[in-house]
Amino acid sequence: MVTRCICLDVPFDEVAARAKRGEGFDQISSATGCCQGCGMCEPYVRVVIATGRTNLPVMNRAEADQIVAQSQAWKARASKPAAES
Ligand code: FES
Repeated sequence: MVTRCICLDVPFDEVAARAKRGEGFDQISSATGCCQGCGMCEPYVRVVIATGRTNLPVMNRAEADQIVAQSQAWKARASKPAAES
């Protein structure tokens, strides 16, 4: 499982906590340094921010992007007011 940015030793728990407080990718990366080394953790960090999950399976960029897109679509649907009947 993938649980942290290895290069900067930033646990995804910290990323999730910051995201929960409203910080976005750029702010989290600037504050912690994550994604500023080899960059391999970026897709994972984006999944953490989108889903709150911090213990992730190894995945490729396309899989990570799909999870982020699905999470964003679900949040958009959940935030819409219910249709009046
Ligand atoms: S693992 Fe995060 S920058 Fe390398």
